[in-house]
Amino acid sequence: MLDSYQRKIDYMRISITDRCHFQCAYCKSDHPQKLKHQDILSYEQLLLIVDQAIQLGINKFKITGGEPTIRKDYLFFIKELKKREVEVTLTTNGSLFTKKDLDCLKEIGIDGINFSIDTLDLREYFLLTQQDCLETVLDNLFYAYQLKIPVKINCVMDDTFHLKRLNDLMDLIKDKKIAVRFIELMPLNREQRNQKIKDVIKYLKEYPIQEYLDKLGNGPAHYYTIEGYAGYIGFIEALHYKFCHQCNRLRLTSTGKIKPCLFYEEMYDLKPYLNNEKQLRLHLEKAIKLKPKEHHFEENISYTRMNEIGG
Ligand code: GTP
Ligand code: 5AD
Ligand code: SF4
Repeated sequence: MLDSYQRKIDYMRISITDRCHFQCAYCKSDHPQKLKHQDILSYEQLLLIVDQAIQLGINKFKITGGEPTIRKDYLFFIKELKKREVEVTLTTNGSLFTKKDLDCLKEIGIDGINFSIDTLDLREYFLLTQQDCLETVLDNLFYAYQLKIPVKINCVMDDTFHLKRLNDLMDLIKDKKIAVRFIELMPLNREQRNQKIKDVIKYLKEYPIQEYLDKLGNGPAHYYTIEGYAGYIGFIEALHYKFCHQCNRLRLTSTGKIKPCLFYEEMYDLKPYLNNEKQLRLHLEKAIKLKPKEHHFEENISYTRMNEIGG
C-alpha cells in the first residue's frame, strides 16, 4: 500500500520483546520503563496483525527486540511467519543462539540475520555492552555464515568509535561475503551527535572502492565493494544521507502498537481491534496514511525508546 507521500510500504519491523541483557550506552533510555508482561501480545495475536498487514501488501518482516532471541519460542513465531511465504529476517546481538537454534533457523528458511557487533576488541566489547560474550557471538556469526544464512554486521559509531574498529571489521570480511554496516548514531533521548562517519569515508577513500548497486536486504543502507575483499561495506546515515523519501516501513511493538516513524512518539494501538479483522485492517491502513514524511534528527533529538521498537 502507498502512504500519503506515495511511498510503497511493504516492510514491517516487529519488536517481540523490550527486554535485553545488554547495556549498550547509546541504546539505553534515561527512563527505562519495562513493558508489563500482561500487555505483551501472544504470538497468535501478533500473527492476526501480520495477516492483515499481508493483505495490505506487506511481505517483508524484520524481527527485533529488545533482544528478540530472549523471548521464549521465537523460533515458533518465525516458523509461523515463514509459512506465509514472506521474507523474514532477524536483528540480534547474536549471543544467545545455540548451534541447534541456527540449524533450525536455516531449516525454517530465515532470509537473513543481522548481528550487532560494534567492536572486535574483547575489552571494548565488554565496556560497550557490559557482556563478556564476543567470542560466542563471533562463533554464532561464523556458524550462520557456514550454513549459508545471509549475515550482516551492524556497527554503531558512537563517540568511542575509532578507525581500528573499521580496520578489524574489514579484516573480517576480507575472505567472507559478509556486509558490515557503519551506522551513524541517532540522537535518542539525549544529545548524541558526532562526525565519525566522515572519518570512515575519508579513510576508505584510500581503498579502491566501488558503489554496489544491487540489493542487499530491505533497509536504508547503501553499499560499497572493495577490490580484494569478498565482503561489503555499508553505511546507514540517518542524518548525513537522509533516506526518508524511500522509507518502506512500519514498526509494530510487542504490545500491538503501530509506530509509523522511528523518530516520532505517535503510536496507534491495534490491541482493541484484535477480534475484528476488518477493523484491524482499517486501523493499520490509517497508520500507514498517517506516516510522517521524514524525521528531524538534524534539529531535534527523538524520545523514542529503542528497546521498545528495535531500531
Ligand atoms: P536489512 O538491511 O534488510 O537487514 O534491514 P535494516 O538495515 O533496516 O535492519 P537493522 O535492523 O539491522 O537496522 C540497522 C540500523 O538501521 C539500525 O540502527 C536501525 O535503527 C536503523 N534503521 C532501520 N530502519 C530505519 C528507519 O526506517 N529509519 C531510521 N532512521 N533508521 C532505521
Ligand atoms: N543510533 C543508531 N543505531 C542504533 N541502534 C541502537 N541504538 C541506536 C542509535 N541510537 C542499533 C543497534 C542495532 C540496531 C537494531 O539498532 O546497534 O544494531
Ligand atoms: Fe522512515 Fe521515519 Fe526512518 Fe525516515 S526516520 S526512514 S520516515 S521511519
